Amino acid sequence: MGNPTPQPGIFALGTRYHHHLEFDVDDDVATAAVVAALQHGLDSAPVSGGAANVVVGFGPALWQRLRDGRELPGGFEDFAEVSGRDGHRAPATQHDIWIWVHGGGVDGVLDAAVAVSAALDAVASLAQECASFVYHDSRDLTGFVDGTANPAPVEAPAVACIAPGAPGAGGSHVLTQRWVHDLASFEALPVADQERVFGRTKAASDAIPDRPTTSHISKAEIHDADGEERPIYRRSTAYGDVGERGLYFVAFSAEQDRFDEMLAQMYGTGGRPERDRLLDFSRAVSGSYYFAPSLDDLIAVGIVPA
Ligand code: HEM
Repeated sequence: MGNPTPQPGIFALGTRYHHHLEFDVDDDVATAAVVAALQHGLDSAPVSGGAANVVVGFGPALWQRLRDGRELPGGFEDFAEVSGRDGHRAPATQHDIWIWVHGGGVDGVLDAAVAVSAALDAVASLAQECASFVYHDSRDLTGFVDGTANPAPVEAPAVACIAPGAPGAGGSHVLTQRWVHDLASFEALPVADQERVFGRTKAASDAIPDRPTTSHISKAEIHDADGEERPIYRRSTAYGDVGERGLYFVAFSAEQDRFDEMLAQMYGTGGRPERDRLLDFSRAVSGSYYFAPSLDDLIAVGIVPA
């Protein structure tokens, strides 16, 4: 048997329109009904001809029910609130199903998001929705390029997916967090100070050699005991209107605890002496962990993506 195939939408690049939906499954709904509703949603989502990619993830409690005897991925747990230094916190809002639709046109993406939501309405309620987009040349709304240090396409699957042979192989641990920016405060900083917040230059996204230890890239980079970097694969996008704007953070990892460690460094928990300066300019308002099973595991539990 070959290695399991990850959901291809995780790695599909060049799509500017994104739509994230998070659902809570209603109490007392049979597992078979959830599978049937999701299948109906995927069947009715217009994805042919590349109109949209649909990626599906499940929270721990639901995957535990759906997995049909498969071993759970190691370390897969609900997102737990991070209570950090100076009153900064990352709230936990764990939900059961996460659907990520993305494509080249807002029309096809919206059609697919509506179709999946309509089908899931029979078994679940919509807990969070975020329509998002690629801002200019993949910039966050602060104006800084987001994704520079992401693994190259050829390396991304090994970073994002559980290794062959391990429970959940070919699937990914996912972190989703909606962040709300305080852009007025950030934009009030001179550009040189903004660059010290992230640790990269604004125009070209070059790493600043003498960046502060509190810069975002210093806090987000983690290493194992041998000094090897423990990377993640990020696919975050900007969202907002004239009132509220921010980042819908999405990242994939072979191990869930890479996220825990990055957040611990960012928030300065566990006795760490300092936190990420970025927290002065953005706050997380949601946080969930999901498992995006391989195509093989999805099909094995009765869900056949289009
Ligand atoms: C408001 C929320 C956030 C914003 C605006 C943001 C933005 C950025 C920017 C502009 C960069 C530098 C360019 C790049 O390499 O992509 C970066 C790097 C990075 N971010 Fe974030 N980020 C946010 C939250 C997070 C969170 C919650 C995590 C992890 C749980 C994270 C993990 C990383 C990693 C791993 C890097 C690369 C670090 C390296 O250079 O090795 N970020 N982020």
